[in-house]
Amino acid sequence: MKFFVDTADVESIRDLVDGGFVDGVTTTPELISATGRPVDELVAEICEAVEGPVSVDLQAGDCESMVDQGCALSDVAPNVAVKLPMTFEGLRACKVLTGAGRMVNVTLCFTAAQALLATKAGATFVSPFVGRLEDTGQDGLGLVKEIRQIYDNYGYETQILAASIRTAENFAACARIGIDVATAPPDVIRAMIAHELTDKALADHGQDTAAVNITAA
Ligand code: E4P
Repeated sequence: MKFFVDTADVESIRDLVDGGFVDGVTTTPELISATGRPVDELVAEICEAVEGPVSVDLQAGDCESMVDQGCALSDVAPNVAVKLPMTFEGLRACKVLTGAGRMVNVTLCFTAAQALLATKAGATFVSPFVGRLEDTGQDGLGLVKEIRQIYDNYGYETQILAASIRTAENFAACARIGIDVATAPPDVIRAMIAHELTDKALADHGQDTAAVNITAA
């Protein structure tokens, strides 16, 4: 499974890439505008910081305007994945952009039927929103499991990008289901490292460090 980080913070991306924790990035308009930086400049910098795909939203509209915006966006760097909304016009734009060799992430997926249409439109990625479904009391992990089964039934190549992952447990559950990619904020990825027994063992070892004080020759 590939790990993407959901942030527009370049330093945070560099730290996680250097540690080998993440393979790509997802952003949202909110995360980008919180940096206060021009979109093109910021996206170019993020795309240099990570080799894998960097998902960036555009302004929703009709197919033609989204194709124009999508071409401009993916001209910024070869690893840009244009985020398109799950709308009729968004899916039409997806068909055009992926047909022209551009990467597309069809976002805001909340049903298996939507995921079916995304793959028919040639999407590179489809993003089911696990956390937002759970916010409404629905089974977000159940949805990604259902999409996995459907795509496997027919050998569809669209990668399932589980989005809106807000806990380490849900991240691990996506791996168990066999999802292609999961994306989560930096603090969730860092939280995957922590466990109370790890912390306790480290505290216990700490009391004995004087006994094993190894110094370089
Ligand atoms: C990523 O592409 C999504 O926009 C993101 O994971 C959404 O997360 P949220 O539901 O916590 O805002």
